[in-house]
Amino acid sequence: MSDLAEHSSDFILNPHLDRARPYGEELRGILSLAGAQAAHDAISRWEAYAPTPLRDLPSLADRLDIAQLLYKDEGKRFGLKSFKALGGAYAVDRIVAARGRDGLTVTCATDGNHGRSVAWGARRAGVPAVIYLHETVSEGRAEAIRAFGAQVVREGRTYDDSVRACAEAARRHGWQIVSDTSWPGYEEVPKDVMQGYAVLAMEAEAQGARPTHVFVQGGVGGLAAGVLSYRWEKLGAERPILVVVEPETAACLFESARNGTLTTVGGDLDTIMAGLACGEPSVLAWRILDPGADAFMTIADRAAADVMRLLAQLGVVGGESGVAGLAGLVKASADPVLRRALKLDASSRVLCYGTEGATDPEVYSSIVGRTAEEVEA
Ligand SMILES: Cc1ncc(COP(=O)(O)O)c(C=O)c1O
Repeated sequence: MSDLAEHSSDFILNPHLDRARPYGEELRGILSLAGAQAAHDAISRWEAYAPTPLRDLPSLADRLDIAQLLYKDEGKRFGLKSFKALGGAYAVDRIVAARGRDGLTVTCATDGNHGRSVAWGARRAGVPAVIYLHETVSEGRAEAIRAFGAQVVREGRTYDDSVRACAEAARRHGWQIVSDTSWPGYEEVPKDVMQGYAVLAMEAEAQGARPTHVFVQGGVGGLAAGVLSYRWEKLGAERPILVVVEPETAACLFESARNGTLTTVGGDLDTIMAGLACGEPSVLAWRILDPGADAFMTIADRAAADVMRLLAQLGVVGGESGVAGLAGLVKASADPVLRRALKLDASSRVLCYGTEGATDPEVYSSIVGRTAEEVEA
């Protein structure tokens, strides 16, 4: 008979979770329902705004022995192909509104999707952008950023290296950093980025999602914190069970939960889930996830690739990082120990955030064996 101890390397119930704790003032100072509403009001006025589809996948739900599987498909978000369009671009808007355009250059480090959002937001706002990419970010992702008129700088071996290179250049040139992660002393902009992500949860709710469980992928934790904050403040202890899913080679949130304190993981963070290849949690996101997330788990690259192919059979295009939450659900639902630990059963309604489509078309078709267009046809 296996038990949770046998999962010590890939699953942990949050030892700091206090489900009865209300979403108090300290947390509302980071993210709030009022902030989410303001983000929604602003973003829904952008040209070409449309809520992304909430897909009901009954055949897959059957297979996983749950009542409902909802997949919020961000593959077409503002033509940027990922939910990140909501965060960085919203933060750029807020900066321009507060400071004006004069002398403003925005910059960020990115593994692709956030930089695309900042570059797009900068073009919309009419300000220059300089985007830092580390070595292993594919050229396809770099090209997509240049296409919005941004300058791309390659520096560092990992995402975390490029964050430092960007910070250093910003100091030298007086540029404004628009980061999706936060560190001590740098909090205001990442708050706006995460607040933009909360729009995902608002849209899903307006589209009828009433999940008992949410499986969401973690990079630095901003997305998970954004969607958790919204439901926690609104529903308190009645909120769905939230599981954070990370690649096993870049599991900084999982390790933070295990160590009971913010933890940086080293190594080359190598994973096909490029958007999740982060070794350092966002300090702000962690302040929300530490007391509020229910569980943390990790998955192998193979699991993400399998789920990409599974979705493709249903005509749904999910990118490597975008499917990680669903891959976590597939893994958990097949394991009696994890099912029990997460109270996952035939009455569960699960929401997964499909946070990207084929953001790198070449990588997508090399994994799935068909192009995104062929899958959608
Ligand atoms: C497609 C995709 N999903 C999820 C995430 C994770 O977001 P966060 O880093 O805020 O945890 C990212 C981050 O870049 C991403 O690109």
